[in-house]
Amino acid sequence: MTIAIHESALIRHFNTRKETLRAWEEKVGCRFSPFRGFKMPDSRLYVEHPEFLDSIVDLVLTNERHIFIRGPVGSGKSTLMLLALRDLPTLADRRGNKFITGYVGMTGLYEKQMAAAIADSLRIKYRRSWESSQIIETVAQECLKRYVEEKSRTALFIEDVADNQEAAFHKLRYLADLPTEEMVDAYEGALDEPIITLIMSGTAEYWNAMLNFLPQIADRTEPLDVPPLDDAKALEFIGRRIAYARGEIDKFDPDNFDIHPFTQEAVIILNQAAHGNPRDIRMLARGCQQVAAENFKRFGDPVVSPEIAQLVADAYVTILKEVR
Ligand SMILES: Nc1ncnc2c1ncn2[C@@H]1O[C@H](COP(=O)(O)OP(=O)(O)O)[C@@H](O)[C@H]1O
Ligand SMILES: [Mg+2]
Repeated sequence: MTIAIHESALIRHFNTRKETLRAWEEKVGCRFSPFRGFKMPDSRLYVEHPEFLDSIVDLVLTNERHIFIRGPVGSGKSTLMLLALRDLPTLADRRGNKFITGYVGMTGLYEKQMAAAIADSLRIKYRRSWESSQIIETVAQECLKRYVEEKSRTALFIEDVADNQEAAFHKLRYLADLPTEEMVDAYEGALDEPIITLIMSGTAEYWNAMLNFLPQIADRTEPLDVPPLDDAKALEFIGRRIAYARGEIDKFDPDNFDIHPFTQEAVIILNQAAHGNPRDIRMLARGCQQVAAENFKRFGDPVVSPEIAQLVADAYVTILKEVR
């Protein structure tokens, strides 16, 4: 007996859709969708906000305050953190101190999970059986040793910091307050600045919550708002992604780049709908690609016109409201 396997309707539609998108990509010279999501950020796709980056660098160098990178979901907090995480270990501050970095990307952590995540991220050994305070004390001692013996400050990146359990904050606060008075006494004035700099991220709501519930950390932390993309930067965002998908990103010139098959007006419409949020621009641009690909199949023109952009922006209005 044989069982006939028929191509299901879903598979057929799926494949047709893929072919339609593929044909459009080929037409515009792309090897894959320019609006694909990437797990790890590629600095070549990053549209810079020079003043914003300057203010972060300033704060890190002066080492007087911790940092809270503030912005809505999709504004680019994680991207910035991951890029900074990669660059900091290659730099030194004005005293010649180097940086050792740790990154806690998980959230919803309890006290002990937070302590363990911090130790892991800084490659500090501890025993599973230890209490969280024991783990944190070991982290503190190791960071002190790194500071004194290796002239290395610790920069600890904590993503969406307020999404963790309240008790976890006490561990962070202890680290944020280092060196302790005993340490300062023991080193007779050699420790006159924080040895651990916290670089946290979160939304404005969470920052406000932190002001209320954790004034001890908030008072010593500088909130920095991730700027939204203006129209020029939104154009660059699209331009970089298209160049990347064409395999031409290494030749990208921010003063002279191609956004074809997008029209300038279309990008401006998308940026308005997205309020300059890069995640939303990417989502809308992907929607435009789909409509433009259908058009290309039927009429042979791959362009993303202002009409297409408006259509997609209107269709996404409710979705964007919900996810924000
Ligand atoms: N300055 C930027 N230039 C280019 N792409 C960006 C920029 N900021 C964010 N993105 C993109 O936007 C999306 C959301 O960014 P993400 O860092 O995850 O935001 P958040 O952590 O604030 O929620 C990612 O796809 C990221 O690559
Ligand atoms: Mg994030």
